[in-house]
Amino acid sequence: MTETVRLTTAIDERNDRFTSRVKAQLRDLSGLSDVALEWLMLEHFQFSVSNPGFLAAAATTTERLANRGVSAELRRNFQEESGHAAIYRKGLAEIGSDVARRVEFTPTTEFLDTIGRLTTAGASTALGALYATETAAIFEHEVFWAISREVCARRGYDWEPSTIKAFHDMHLDGVEQSHKDELGVFVDPSPTEPTGGGEGGPVDRAEVLAGAEQAIDAMTTWWNKLLAHAATT
Ligand SMILES: [Fe+2]
Ligand SMILES: [Fe+2]
Repeated sequence: MTETVRLTTAIDERNDRFTSRVKAQLRDLSGLSDVALEWLMLEHFQFSVSNPGFLAAAATTTERLANRGVSAELRRNFQEESGHAAIYRKGLAEIGSDVARRVEFTPTTEFLDTIGRLTTAGASTALGALYATETAAIFEHEVFWAISREVCARRGYDWEPSTIKAFHDMHLDGVEQSHKDELGVFVDPSPTEPTGGGEGGPVDRAEVLAGAEQAIDAMTTWWNKLLAHAATT
């Protein structure tokens, strides 16, 4: 009997390849200017602003799946993420970074547009894409935990306690892991899982994988451009 490859494993491995490479490039922050580090935080803040909308759109798109749990889980994540950008903005303001000063960076706009499109492209596509972004969220909070600590140190602000540290800690203390794991249940449903029957379609594995791959490609392109720009800032 051949064992079916777990989709979550395949997606996680692909995510790991890009996140480990980016992490390695950001291991030593000493070569990046304060302006560059702040700029990276303000770009990441844009994702925080858009993410609740992605989750809400995906929750609506996935209502057509027989398994209503997918939409319910995405809706739960939407509610959890809803107030986060405001906390992030406050945390950044307290260490001297005003998000209103940000100037649009086209690759970020393009990245957010791509993720937005994937959330409405189809129920299984949306599930795969959001599983991938929730998985990468863990890496992003790790990276921005270190970046904001470095900015605090350079500017002479207390790291502990600080809103910005608490903000990233909260995500790393289980919020993002639970978003990933609880969507993962639907990416790899157990064979005994009731499909819901009747109303709505089943999760399409090929579409889940394609949605996840497109999201990871978009994140990879975005991060390449972020790092290239930061290096010259
Ligand atoms: Fe969040
Ligand atoms: Fe999340």
